[in-house]
Amino acid sequence: MIRLEKLCKSFNGHEVLKDVSLHVRAGETLVIIGASGCGKTVLLKTVIGLIRPDSGRVIIDGHDLTKMNEKSLFAFRKYFGMLFQGAALFDSMSCSENIALALKEHTSLPGEEIDKRVHAMLERVGLPGVGSKRPSEISGGMKKRVGLARAMIMRPRILLYDEPTTGLDPLMADVITNLINRTSHEVSITSLVVTHDLYHAFRIADRIAMMYEGTFIAKGTPEELFHSTHPHVREFLSKQPIQKKSAGKRKELK
Ligand SMILES: Nc1ncnc2c1ncn2[C@@H]1O[C@H](COP(=O)(O)OP(=O)(O)OP(=O)(O)O)[C@@H](O)[C@H]1O
Ligand SMILES: [Mg+2]
Repeated sequence: MIRLEKLCKSFNGHEVLKDVSLHVRAGETLVIIGASGCGKTVLLKTVIGLIRPDSGRVIIDGHDLTKMNEKSLFAFRKYFGMLFQGAALFDSMSCSENIALALKEHTSLPGEEIDKRVHAMLERVGLPGVGSKRPSEISGGMKKRVGLARAMIMRPRILLYDEPTTGLDPLMADVITNLINRTSHEVSITSLVVTHDLYHAFRIADRIAMMYEGTFIAKGTPEELFHSTHPHVREFLSKQPIQKKSAGKRKELK
């Protein structure tokens, strides 16, 4: 579903993505872990075409994004839902308007149907009654959930999450993790999740890829990553507690 081939990207001579290749299968949840500044957000933005790579290709379901012009890219974005780091909601709009935005831009659905879908999505993320509030009036955890509702409203085939649990209290982080798991199971979405939160990474991932200074140094199942002998992987994993029992979401769900 997602195929990245030898992606390179520099900003002002600083090489951020170095020959990045990755395959994500349809229906799979792949989690990217890695230290702050290693290029995770740049990679996600490259996957949806917000950043153009200097070289390499981004192939989504057989379509080469790197060859598309802005107009085709805009139309193609309905394939994706993205939860941005920090939610990136528009403060000038209500939460409902934020969630409805893509439906208004990409479909000709009548207003009533849009309202119905927005309402159902707010229920799904556990926030009924929040629709009329502005993002500035709600908490960080609620913003993440509104961001999630906005990402899912177009029923995309691919969901990208940038740090979905970072900065949340453990209970709210669990709520978000469960929502991600539920979404990927119920509607068989292909998910790419970026996080430094190892506990949650191991709970949702089918596979984990570790990024280090702009390239992947390890890829595998949670179990394989857990047993990796790569020194940078070992060092990264040793900094946070991982409950080995929870390695692998299939086991966790039982
Ligand atoms: N638009 C941009 N212009 C110039 N440099 C950029 C731009 N976007 C990102 N960078 C640089 O690319 C590098 C990687 O940034 P990125 O945001 O991908 O890190 P990250 O892995 O997501 O970190 P974090 O975990 O803190 O979110 C950083 O050095 C950053 O300063
Ligand atoms: Mg980031």
